[in-house]
Amino acid sequence: MAEPHKPEIRGTIIHGSESTCSIDVPAPCGLIIFGASGDLTHRKIAPALYRLRKNRLLPESFFMLGTARTAMSNAAFRETLRAAVQESLPDEFRNEIWDSLADSFFYHSIAYDDAAGYQHLQKRALELTHRFGTGGNLIFYLAVPPAVFTDVVTHIGQVNFSDGVREGFRHIVIEKPIGHDIDSALAINKTLRAVFQEHQIYRMDHYLAKENVQNILMFRFANAIFEPLWNRNFIDHVQITASEKLGVEHRAGYYERAGILRDMFQNHLFQLLALTAMEPPAEFVAGRVHDERMKVFQSVRPFQLDRLLEHIVLGQYGRGSMNGVDMPAYREEHGVARDSMTPTYAALRVMIDNWRWKGVPFYLRSGKRLAQRCAEIAIFFKPVPHLMFSRLMHDQIEPNTLILRVQPNEGMSMSIQVKNPGSRLCLNTVLMDFTYPRSVVLSEYERVLLDCMQGDQLLFVRADAVTLSWELLTPLIRATESDAYPKYFPNYAAGSSGPVEADALLSLDGRSWRPL
Ligand code: NDP
Ligand code: BG6
Repeated sequence: MAEPHKPEIRGTIIHGSESTCSIDVPAPCGLIIFGASGDLTHRKIAPALYRLRKNRLLPESFFMLGTARTAMSNAAFRETLRAAVQESLPDEFRNEIWDSLADSFFYHSIAYDDAAGYQHLQKRALELTHRFGTGGNLIFYLAVPPAVFTDVVTHIGQVNFSDGVREGFRHIVIEKPIGHDIDSALAINKTLRAVFQEHQIYRMDHYLAKENVQNILMFRFANAIFEPLWNRNFIDHVQITASEKLGVEHRAGYYERAGILRDMFQNHLFQLLALTAMEPPAEFVAGRVHDERMKVFQSVRPFQLDRLLEHIVLGQYGRGSMNGVDMPAYREEHGVARDSMTPTYAALRVMIDNWRWKGVPFYLRSGKRLAQRCAEIAIFFKPVPHLMFSRLMHDQIEPNTLILRVQPNEGMSMSIQVKNPGSRLCLNTVLMDFTYPRSVVLSEYERVLLDCMQGDQLLFVRADAVTLSWELLTPLIRATESDAYPKYFPNYAAGSSGPVEADALLSLDGRSWRPL
């Protein structure tokens, strides 16, 4: 039978006035990146700095001082970054913009555990502070593997980066994952707090800075029509997905120890869960929003470790094919143990025991080497209470769904039932769809760099949220890593939708996943 016609109502973005939509250019500042020879600096931070400069959002007085163990000249550093930015932004790259930016990039090599190296780094930073007139404002960006965090933070604390400058802020950006479990997360937070105050610490979760993730709170709390429905009376369940086509790439060293639960759930998926489920804060300011996100974690029902199989499905990709190209199994990837038990996929049922959400399951899933790259929050509303059309038509009416697309095609769509045009009386599901124009989307790293320069912590994670999410997940992770938890890996093919057992997790509840 032919698919019923589904007309699409396309949305347009209506720009607000300058006063509501403009972004202030931050005050002058310097940025010291630790781990500047690495992947994050090249693939994310440098392109973000380029776009900020191109869009005139980077302060004119600005310098970036990259540091890592690799010995490199300024020229070599600038050249590797140029290649990386050109590769990331082939259509936007312009030599004249790059040259003006690259003139403010410098490199200084250090060993992360060598105190004298940090003294030299401080002198170099001071010299650049004066040369570029950045007034002492300084951001430390830790783009190093977690194993090096403590060394770097402790040494930053031992060197007086305020020496020679009278004023200015000191902010530190620290990338996820913050720790490996609850104990290491507490230790990292303790080290950070020994050197910095909470208002200086910017714990990154780049999902929070994605355009349509920022939109979740606006959408929920700036429209009167959704909030009255946003609860157990009208919502049947919620599905939160972050699926990737990419495999482990060159990150086996980290990923083999992390696995999907640490890499994606403890941070990104839990933050999406919090934004979807939280109560409206009284004010849209960092502290209030963080408080409400925290309360969600406080209400998450602890996972029943003796009935794990009913709540969680893990997977690891085997060989498969994507777009006609053969893909290796996870265990065949460079740096991965041939008998690795590291999960690259997980599906998890989360229950939130509070007044608003009692009884509404939140299904979270994420995996590598899946059929599609897709991150979204899907709200499944309850069916209509009484089917008055049942005498006219046999089919069940599809309940309404609201999909908040995080990526790709940032936007949202709402499925609704309408009468199909024509003589025959029947209903049709149509989509009201809104897609952000690509040109107005600020990348996550542009957003966080700007916010950190401007001292806005709203899109970052507070220490207590890191602690609580680890408290919830650490027992679960430990239980799944024990021999008592059966793992039959690999259990899904690269390029598929994940393990079949994940379907069973929902079918047990009489539901099914949105197709990837
Ligand atoms: P890399 O593995 O590329 O490491 C960054 C740099 O750190 C390397 O260039 C290397 O520089 C140094 N380094 C690597 N391993 C060690 C080690 N064992 N001891 C000391 N130094 C080491 O990491 P990424 O750039 O990918 O990531 C940095 C941080 O950002 C990590 O915390 C990661 O989890 C996080 N992150 C990364 C993302 C990404 O897309 N890459 C996305 C989100 C978060 P040198 O040898 O010159 O000292
Ligand atoms: C990172 C994870 O935090 O997020 C990676 O460490 C993952 O494993 C990445 O690939 C996904 O981010 P994005 O923005 O591409 O969805």
